Amino acid sequence: MTEIFAHRGASGYAPENTMDAFKLAVKQGAEGIELDVQLSKDGIPVVIHDETIDRVTNGHGYVKDYTLEELKNFTIMKGKYQEYEHSKIPTLEEVLVYAKKENLTVNIELKTGIYWYPEIEEKTVDLVKKTKMEDLVIYSSFNHYSIRKIKEIAPQAETAYLYSDVILQIDKYAKNEGVNGLHPAVYHVKMAHFLKEYLQSGLKVRVWTVNQESDMKMLIDSGITAIITNYPDKARMIREESERG
Ligand code: G3P
Ligand code: MG
Repeated sequence: MTEIFAHRGASGYAPENTMDAFKLAVKQGAEGIELDVQLSKDGIPVVIHDETIDRVTNGHGYVKDYTLEELKNFTIMKGKYQEYEHSKIPTLEEVLVYAKKENLTVNIELKTGIYWYPEIEEKTVDLVKKTKMEDLVIYSSFNHYSIRKIKEIAPQAETAYLYSDVILQIDKYAKNEGVNGLHPAVYHVKMAHFLKEYLQSGLKVRVWTVNQESDMKMLIDSGITAIITNYPDKARMIREESERG
């Protein structure tokens, strides 16, 4: 069965990467959530997509230039989701504690493509251990050295390569590094024969960001490991339809 992961939570309906979006994902029946991790000035993993706080909060500047206490003073903009209460940038620990309670799988995307935050891998693995989430976490990153580091620190951890370009022999490359999964972009798997190649690789394949219903259907019918979507409710509906035949 293709699993449904909520991209930055159920971000089609609630402000991205907030507790509201993660709780809604659970309510909509997602098996997992995907979230993005950056590091505060005092080295605390926080859940926010961009390197700056400008797009999603009422503040300005880089995540790395604020302590956690300072970051918590900013408020997440509700944008088009006015029905939600004002919220704050969650820490990774807050989300992991919630996920543990819900038995929810968490795909932690390490945002180390622009700033390679010192020891972000160690700090993240420590939190996963502290919250006893080892069996429910999948680490991914566009920075594949970050994934190598995760494997060095936690050899048993489930890992995956994120990529948005077409990479030659990515399946062999992943297997060679002991990496368990591939997280390709949806526009990429629709090109040529790549989907078939990935499905045959024996690796876990989770595609992002699958928001169009026709793509959801095509991927669910292909038997892919998971789709990562802003609309978990739609994906659930399509999966149920597909199971009914
Ligand atoms: O992890 C899948 C996806 O989230 C990667 O891209 O920019 O949405 O973090 P982005
Ligand atoms: Mg992401």
